[in-house]
Amino acid sequence: MAADDAVTLIEKDHRALEALFDRVTAGDGDRDALIEQINVRLAAHSRAEEAEVYPAIVQAQPGEEEDVEHAHHEHHEAEHLLRKARNLTVSPHFDEAFQAFVGAVRHHVEEEEQKILPALRKAVDQATLEQLGAAFEQARTELLGDESGEDLGQATKTELYEMAKEAEIPGRSTMTKDELAEALRDNE
Ligand SMILES: [Fe+2]
Ligand SMILES: [Fe+2]
Repeated sequence: MAADDAVTLIEKDHRALEALFDRVTAGDGDRDALIEQINVRLAAHSRAEEAEVYPAIVQAQPGEEEDVEHAHHEHHEAEHLLRKARNLTVSPHFDEAFQAFVGAVRHHVEEEEQKILPALRKAVDQATLEQLGAAFEQARTELLGDESGEDLGQATKTELYEMAKEAEIPGRSTMTKDELAEALRDNE
């Protein structure tokens, strides 16, 4: 199986984040649990980009340095807006705060997908893109707190708990992370 390249993996993770945003906006699921999932996933995504991908872009395309610095700044801006929304989950101002966060992330994702990632793709060969993809995914997974390559193994405990709640798995509130993953696998 060919390894996924960094651009493909990053874009895939953007779509996963956007799906979570849509669930919050639609009120589909427990708001606090979803916000926690977004917080963990977004932080892991951004730190993995900063550690593994952004430096490679600047190295391969020195002209991109300013865009990359700007992107780095936008990561912090998004996290700041998410913290604000997170403090308002029971407030009537939540929607406004959450949409401000979503808007900032969408803007950032667009710049990444339209400018930064295409510049990377142009500057390096496919093998390098795949190596960067593996490095990105490893850093991201470690930041999520799990080194397992399985789908359920990549979820955080909060994500597993949320899935167990939706699947109405009995005894879920006293289960460990591994027990939750196992119960979900059995339930499939
Ligand atoms: Fe990204
Ligand atoms: Fe980013």
